[in-house]
Amino acid sequence: MSYETILVETQERVGMIRLNRPKALNALNNTLLKELMNALEAFDADDAIGAMVITGNEKAFAAGADIKEMAEASAVEMLKSDFIPTFDRIRGIKKPVIAAVSGWALGGGSELALSCDMIVASETAKFGQPEINIGVIPGAGGTQRLAKAVGKALAMEMVLNNRTLSAAEAQAHGVVNRVVPVERYLDEALELAAQIAARASIAVQLGKEAVNQAFETFLTDGLAEERRAFTFLFATEDQKEGMAAFVDKRDPEWMGQ
Ligand code: CAA
Repeated sequence: MSYETILVETQERVGMIRLNRPKALNALNNTLLKELMNALEAFDADDAIGAMVITGNEKAFAAGADIKEMAEASAVEMLKSDFIPTFDRIRGIKKPVIAAVSGWALGGGSELALSCDMIVASETAKFGQPEINIGVIPGAGGTQRLAKAVGKALAMEMVLNNRTLSAAEAQAHGVVNRVVPVERYLDEALELAAQIAARASIAVQLGKEAVNQAFETFLTDGLAEERRAFTFLFATEDQKEGMAAFVDKRDPEWMGQ
């Protein structure tokens, strides 16, 4: 499949998607968002892929929704638009998705990174929700995911007063997994994705679902879901192989079933 606004490649079991509107700092227009979700879903359906990485370039992961595209829109047009619902499709991706972020991750760009399962950041990464500067608020989950990630006080400052987070601050608040020099952020994300992609794939999928439950349900429901997934894994070959390999003191050979 050929795309207009993203570049797609695979490295063994890792699918990589590069946002590719550099002149607009990878602003997320309708075409880019649809192409991104189509590429993620295609990797998700491909048994040869075990994890995905979304990245931009050194200067910008993405500077938000494309303001030029939506500047003249009416409320009714925004309501009818697929733009925000398209963001929801990332929640349906079963395999792990890692954001490799350098430079600006603003507005919808920050929301996209926060929608991923993990974030590897370069030292120059900057996270922010500057929508207040243009008379709106975050619209793609920013107020919710950000508040859960950084807590109420800081989320308020970011949403109400354009406070940005440096990479080091984002790490201190648990928003990113690790911060590395700019020359390393993509390789580091690809290595992390490759390590996860080599693991028992059903356990990885259910582990992702179970951790996400922690953010979407009350504790009782989350614990019940975790218990169901844990028990189900005892019906897989990989559980038998993984535990036998431990007992035999050898490396497991994962079959993905
Ligand atoms: N939409 C459309 N175009 C954008 C853009 C955006 N979000 N961000 C940057 N660009 C464009 C600029 O218009 C400029 O294009 P031209 O060369 O054609 O003028 C080009 O990218 C380079 O940008 P700058 O010249 O502004 O670069 P800079 O280095 O001086 O500043 C910046 C960088 C601080 C990120 C600045 O570009 C900026 O503030 N961008 C807007 C950030 C923003 O408000 N994002 C939130 C969008 S709303 C949203 O995302 C809603 C939601 O929740 C879904």
